Amino acid sequence: MKAILSLFLALITAVNAESPAERDARMQWFREARFGMFIHWGLYSVAAGEWDGKRYGGGVEWIQSLARIPVAEYTPLKDRFNPVKYDPDAWVRLARDAGMRYVVITSKHHDGFCLWDSKLTDWDVAASPWGKDLLKPLAEACRKYDMKFCLYHSIMDWHHPQWGNKEPWRGNSATDAPDMDAYAAYMKGQLKELLTEYGDVGILWFDGEWESAWTHERGTELDDYVRSLQPAIIVNNRVDKGRKGMEGATLGEHFRGDYGTPEQQIPANGIPGEDWESCMTMNDTWGFSAHDQNWKSSTVLIRNLIDVASKGGNYLLNIGPTPEGEIPQASVDRLGDIAKWMESNSEAIHGTTANPFPTTPWGRCTMKAVNGGTRLYLHVFDMPADRRLLLTGMRNPIRSARFLAAPQEALRVEAKSEGAAIIVDRELTDPAATVIVVEIEGRPELATPPGNP
Ligand code: GLC
Repeated sequence: MKAILSLFLALITAVNAESPAERDARMQWFREARFGMFIHWGLYSVAAGEWDGKRYGGGVEWIQSLARIPVAEYTPLKDRFNPVKYDPDAWVRLARDAGMRYVVITSKHHDGFCLWDSKLTDWDVAASPWGKDLLKPLAEACRKYDMKFCLYHSIMDWHHPQWGNKEPWRGNSATDAPDMDAYAAYMKGQLKELLTEYGDVGILWFDGEWESAWTHERGTELDDYVRSLQPAIIVNNRVDKGRKGMEGATLGEHFRGDYGTPEQQIPANGIPGEDWESCMTMNDTWGFSAHDQNWKSSTVLIRNLIDVASKGGNYLLNIGPTPEGEIPQASVDRLGDIAKWMESNSEAIHGTTANPFPTTPWGRCTMKAVNGGTRLYLHVFDMPADRRLLLTGMRNPIRSARFLAAPQEALRVEAKSEGAAIIVDRELTDPAATVIVVEIEGRPELATPPGNP
């Protein structure tokens, strides 16, 4: 009897298991996208990084925890959340013009406050002066501009009385009794609203999985549940317990999650064998801060995007709108600069794969298979003194070399003992990165580097 039962279970698992080809098909848009927008928006935006006259740094969406604010004192923030300037159409256009292909917005962050009118709680936008769902208009704008609509959803919840880990600063009420079965049912109920009433959702970006109340078993069950509602959805690895800290790689096959999630960092060699996405801020916080003006330059952001793509990952770049629904001007300016760069260079990012060379001292390389050959995109950060861009160890015949932005002007090529070199006899004009396209025969074939067996 037992044997029959396990055979039956094995059969069910086999039927449900996804083949590598099916998985590739599901991941395809994500792999081609390379660039997305993260949006952290909620009640913490009202506090804007300050509480009781004290300023907090780092991720100020954590203000409730940073300032040890009891739930009863945090709750009135909802009365000041009124995004009258919210313009989802403009937000999505800003993302699209910058070359982003997906938008991930916080349906619920750690404070538990929901940006849609959930039937399962009053701790949501319906209780604010705004009073209306914020997610649906964004989902609609995404559909209009062919942008994937995706959701960040915190597993950990500082507001819900049944979440299993308690913090003394929360000021728990007498009715506060941890019950993770009940909490999991609440989360599933909410996810059902989000996954049945908003059309196709590209990614479910879970977070807050690190507390002890969340287990591998619960993560597995949640992943199955989400996939049962939307089989084509992509789920990040924070659904389960297998994330390696801020480096974000997934520690082993048996952990759920379709991709790794490095946070505020770009892994030196990507994450071999795994899909991944580096999420990063433009200043030092995810949620809006009125005082954090430590903005990265547009050049740094553009080079980060290139760096991530050259290592085979995606770049999820964050904005933290104000409680009125405005995107900080510093973010708008930077996205505008990225848009300008992407206008002439997006083909060197979208649909590309990782750099094939052991070293690229002049910058970064991405590539794409085309017409039986390969198109290499050399993103030049630093021009070598001899003005030669070495393609270390490459033996393939070269069909052509040219500036991406000036295709009619051919560049000369020189064969060197260490590999082919592209001679750049003109000044580079783009301070962030000038892209040179090199068309070669076949897939890149590299000579074994000297010293290697
Ligand atoms: C985190 C934080 C958080 C932020 C996020 C983005 O680990 O808790 O506030 O939303 O990750 O990656």
